[in-house]
Amino acid sequence: MSHQALCPRKCLAAKRLRSSDKALRVQAGRRPGLMVRAGVVESLIKPITTFGKVADLKSGIATFYDESSELWENVWGEHMHHGYYPKGAPPKSNQEAQIDMIEETLKVAGVTEVRNMVDVGCGIGGSSRYMAKKFGCRGSGITLSPKQAARANALSQAAGLGDRLQFQVADALSQPFDSDCFDLVWSMESGEHMPDKRRFVSELVRVCAPGGSVLVVTWCHRVLGPGEEALQPDEQELLQRICEAYYLPAWCSVADYQKLFEEQGLVDIRTRDWSEEVSPFWGRVIASALTSEGLSGLLKAGWTTIKGALVMPLMAEGFRRGLIKFNVITGRKPPGNHQ
Ligand SMILES: C[S@@+](CC[C@H](N)C(=O)[O-])C[C@H]1O[C@@H](n2cnc3c(N)ncnc32)[C@H](O)[C@@H]1O
Repeated sequence: MSHQALCPRKCLAAKRLRSSDKALRVQAGRRPGLMVRAGVVESLIKPITTFGKVADLKSGIATFYDESSELWENVWGEHMHHGYYPKGAPPKSNQEAQIDMIEETLKVAGVTEVRNMVDVGCGIGGSSRYMAKKFGCRGSGITLSPKQAARANALSQAAGLGDRLQFQVADALSQPFDSDCFDLVWSMESGEHMPDKRRFVSELVRVCAPGGSVLVVTWCHRVLGPGEEALQPDEQELLQRICEAYYLPAWCSVADYQKLFEEQGLVDIRTRDWSEEVSPFWGRVIASALTSEGLSGLLKAGWTTIKGALVMPLMAEGFRRGLIKFNVITGRKPPGNHQ
């Protein structure tokens, strides 16, 4: 599984993950001659789920977004995620491409109406406001960043949506919500920050109402090839540097996510690889960072944000090499599946 990209302090978890990777591929049926032992799934997921010092990671993520969100909003606006730029489409602004990303994701899952959504890793609430206007729904958002939560509430109030949308600081791995309560569970580019992917998916499914949809859009590493035990050392090194700058734990592949969705009993599971469709994004982010507004904003935001900016070319390189993938995973909680 996704033990390849390691933050340097996570070597022990790396070893555990390496042994579990084989087990996962056996379970996936790529080596059908081998029996899967009871508990294998647990042992292969556990290393990711117990990855590193969660408290350190959480405070790092909170500080990173506290410090960088204002600059992002000033330059890119309220959506803190990739845009969708399919080949051959007419030119569009980055903001249009970000809206298209939301729309295309909803299409994958076949979501056409929403009453009550949760925005897991909500940033400053751009997705929630878009959905509240589109569907007339209510929504709750959670983020680790106090500044983001406050800004999300302020922007929603200003947009006349304050009575329908609420944002708070909370951990996606331990959500402050009852089970079975949201018909749309939305995670746009927050999954890559989660040190325990299994718990992340299980929380998404727990809060999802029976019949509701779970949508995860996230960065993954490439799916390992048959017989491949691990990513190549140079690939690991590249991801490691990205992890350090963006406060990311170990990565996983879309195949790993699919298994976690299946384990949680979701049905109608669909995946997409939109690495091509997002390929212009990092070039555009780098270009915006090199404007006078971008550069002065970086200096004002401080070292954590500057470090993030310096790593942008590595993201572009990871995509170019086919190492980093931009994936969508959606599924539905069966009606009658109460928790
Ligand atoms: C790249 S931003 C995406 C923001 C938003 N989804 C959007 O598309 O505009 C990642 C978000 O994930 C949140 N996040 C990361 N780890 C989290 C966790 N364990 N619990 C809650 N939020 C988390 C961050 O605080 C941040 O708001």
